[in-house]
Amino acid sequence: MTTKPPFKPHTREATLWAQVDPAALPVHIAIIMDGNGRWARRRHQPRLAGHRAGVRATREIVETCARIGLPVLTLYAFSLDNWKRPPEEVDFLMQLLRQYVRRELDYMRRNNVRLRAIGRWQELPAEVREDVARAIKATAANTGLQVVVALNYSARAELVDAVRRLLEHAQHNGQLEVNEATLAAHLYAADLPDPDLLIRTSGEMRLSNFLLWQLAYTEIWVTETLWPDFTPAHLLEAILDFQRRERRYGGLAPHEEAAARPIPGPSRSSRGAAALRR
Ligand code: FPP
Repeated sequence: MTTKPPFKPHTREATLWAQVDPAALPVHIAIIMDGNGRWARRRHQPRLAGHRAGVRATREIVETCARIGLPVLTLYAFSLDNWKRPPEEVDFLMQLLRQYVRRELDYMRRNNVRLRAIGRWQELPAEVREDVARAIKATAANTGLQVVVALNYSARAELVDAVRRLLEHAQHNGQLEVNEATLAAHLYAADLPDPDLLIRTSGEMRLSNFLLWQLAYTEIWVTETLWPDFTPAHLLEAILDFQRRERRYGGLAPHEEAAARPIPGPSRSSRGAAALRR
């Protein structure tokens, strides 16, 4: 069986894709979609036009992730801190979100995409919550790309919620065990692996209260490109850069490990110790 190539031949995306090792794709990519407001300002348009253009970019990136076979994509769509924005902008973002989940539902169903949400999204206005819940339910059995939308999300709030749930669980069981595994088991999407790659657009070098626990060993890729201008080619550039990184998780790279390993035998072990001292 031949699988259809994910990009049209002779395009920049096809050229980049040819350099990607499909067997070493990240499992989980997280994106801080930033720069909608600046994109609009540069065009002398209202901020809302930037958000609308941001949705177009989101749609294209989700479709690309599904086509290349990425397992998990987490998108920072609305933070708890975004309530500080003018009410008209917050309302517009809520309407855009509703539109997005309604319009994309058909695409998600046809393409085996599963929608999930993290954050205090149950506290959003009823109509938003209901649309999101409907799409989550309708796609729950899909086994392809999981799109996790961070909605009314804050990483610190997630940790507070995890501790609360851990305590509730302990009260129920009469047993409290606090360690990394039990805390992680009470995060919003505890079954998902941590992101391998975090992409942030618009050049800002901060995490903005996003997945603070889960990003402990994540590779970070920042681009000056504003979110509405972010294309599948940028995504592939980020993946290629990720594939060139050496992930050490606080340990040593394999070649360094081999050099640092003591060699058995009296004269050799002193050579090993000398190598460690260097
Ligand atoms: C940042 O731009 C983006 C957001 C506040 C999130 C909104 C995201 C979208 C509209 C993309 C669509 C997503 C979904 C799932 C519907 P900003 O306003 O902070 O830009 P600025 O920093 O240039 O002002």
